[in-house]
Amino acid sequence: MDHLARYLALQDILNRHEALWRPAPFHISRPAWCARYPEWAGQALQLSDAEVERLNADNPGLIEWAGEFVPELRALQALIELPRLERSADADSVNGRLAWGMPGRKQAQAEAFAEAVDEIDSPITEWCAGKGHLGRLLAVRSQQPVLSLDFDATLCREGELLAERAHVDQHFVRADALEPHSARHLAGRHAVALHACGDLHLALLRGAVAQHAAALDLSPCCYYRSLDAVYRPLNPEGVLQLTRDELHLPVTDTATAGARDRRLRDRAMAWKLAFVKLREELAGVPSARTFKPVPSSWLSLGFEAWCRRLAEREGVEVPAQYDWPALEAFGGQRQREVMRLSLVRHVFRRPLEVWLALDRVLYLERAGYRVRLAEFCGRGLTPRNLFISARRLSRCGHNIANSPFMD
Ligand SMILES: C[S@@+](CC[C@H](N)C(=O)[O-])C[C@H]1O[C@@H](n2cnc3c(N)ncnc32)[C@H](O)[C@@H]1O
Repeated sequence: MDHLARYLALQDILNRHEALWRPAPFHISRPAWCARYPEWAGQALQLSDAEVERLNADNPGLIEWAGEFVPELRALQALIELPRLERSADADSVNGRLAWGMPGRKQAQAEAFAEAVDEIDSPITEWCAGKGHLGRLLAVRSQQPVLSLDFDATLCREGELLAERAHVDQHFVRADALEPHSARHLAGRHAVALHACGDLHLALLRGAVAQHAAALDLSPCCYYRSLDAVYRPLNPEGVLQLTRDELHLPVTDTATAGARDRRLRDRAMAWKLAFVKLREELAGVPSARTFKPVPSSWLSLGFEAWCRRLAEREGVEVPAQYDWPALEAFGGQRQREVMRLSLVRHVFRRPLEVWLALDRVLYLERAGYRVRLAEFCGRGLTPRNLFISARRLSRCGHNIANSPFMD
């Protein structure tokens, strides 16, 4: 199936079943689909904690489960399947000077990404590079000079030191990726970006096309990090409009979170749900109204102090006496329901992510690139494992003849 056909098929299912994934059970305690599929809602609410955890970590399992209630959703399975660019078993991990300063998981991700990049025959620009771990690996593998761009001066300085120490031809430029002017660093080059967020990777795509970058290898992430309140597809065939909250859905996958992180996440959600009720009760604010992120350090305050601190920030007046244990218990109960009902939303998490990636793929194809969409590693290493690889089809046919993506 070509990219456009896959994009349209995913879009069609997402569109027809939007009632299952657009409403977030965090904001709407019983989305309308619960009345349409009471058996499904009932079964979801009965799941044990272990079953919720297992399903949440298993995208194909979620789709299979959904297929029991809405058989046509089984078609999603084939639509989210992508080739995995496995590292060869004999690939060595980098060590010594090259690995210095790379946290373990980041090193494994950068190695898997570097291994997935097939050939590099132009100087490299690493977009939103951080300390440039990926760029350092690619400089050694490809023997091409690397320019790593980031807007954080400290990261650039630390990256320069790491590059010097590893004796690689890598330099840093401090620049804002969102400034159109920064795209000049892409002209004729091989652009790479590991985990560049929403607007940052869209700026890369647009800049690469405008500057005729020779090639681009990208793993997108955090689609919701955007200045636009609503996502508009990059292609004329795209009709899905997505709010920031909906763009959050594809990255709610926390496959790499440990047990402690999951416990803290659950507690934070339970307390926020409790606060939503408190706010509704005391100030009449509708439950769907969002509030700014709450610093995770506040969790150590304990429930009552946490609520009071947040109420003060949000301008909600709280009486001296209140039944805090009952409110905390309510939050816990709601959190368990939200976790279960959200599983139905999560069925569409990977399909939406693949659709967003295909939106980028088609944009590049339209601009004259041969593009491949794959996974650069297993989701245990990072659930943000999509890999978009584009090679510019030059008029003289050089890239066409050498392209590994020729069928
Ligand atoms: C998710 S990190 C990815 C870093 C690196 N690619 C990696 O995988 O380790 C995103 C990086 O983007 C940088 N960044 C954020 N906004 C930026 C902007 N407007 N221009 C340039 N870099 C930016 C941050 O400083 C950070 O280093």
